[in-house]
Amino acid sequence: MALQRTFSIIKPDATRRNLTGAINAKIEEAGLRIVAQKRIHMTKAQAETFYGVHAERPFFNDLVSFMTSGPVVVQVLEGEDAIAAYRKVMGATNPANAEAGTIRKEFAESIEANSVHGSDAPETAAVEIAYFFAGNEIVG
Ligand code: PPS
Repeated sequence: MALQRTFSIIKPDATRRNLTGAINAKIEEAGLRIVAQKRIHMTKAQAETFYGVHAERPFFNDLVSFMTSGPVVVQVLEGEDAIAAYRKVMGATNPANAEAGTIRKEFAESIEANSVHGSDAPETAAVEIAYFFAGNEIVG
């Protein structure tokens, strides 16, 4: 498997609790390299577009409110099979179902305040990375 990139968000519940460094340590321990990173406060419009695929789901408005409730850290992660590797270290969406040692098991508060986002496929990773980063902001 060649080097791959994935898109990550450290969510507002985690930045509020000052967990960026602890989560980055988990990312690096999993063999992933943080090749771009910035702290932003997402606008409502940005969050609605980013999560547009979930617009019909019952939790959509709550998800947009949560994701705009405080700063987030958007990142590009690079490594062997990075998409799957990051989803493994993230753990299940609902922390109640997440395996021991995963980011969500250790840090997430709930299915909504679940500390991190990671892309689910190469196509979505490419779109999500381009949504937040210019090419020259990613330094591999
Ligand atoms: S996944 O991993 O994308 O398949 O999970 P999915 O269940 O499809 O959830 C998509 C995103 O919605 C968030 N989510 C929720 N937010 C608020 N309330 C409820 N009940 C809820 N259920 C799921 C979930 O954390 C996913 O966010 P991202 O940022 O994509 O991880």
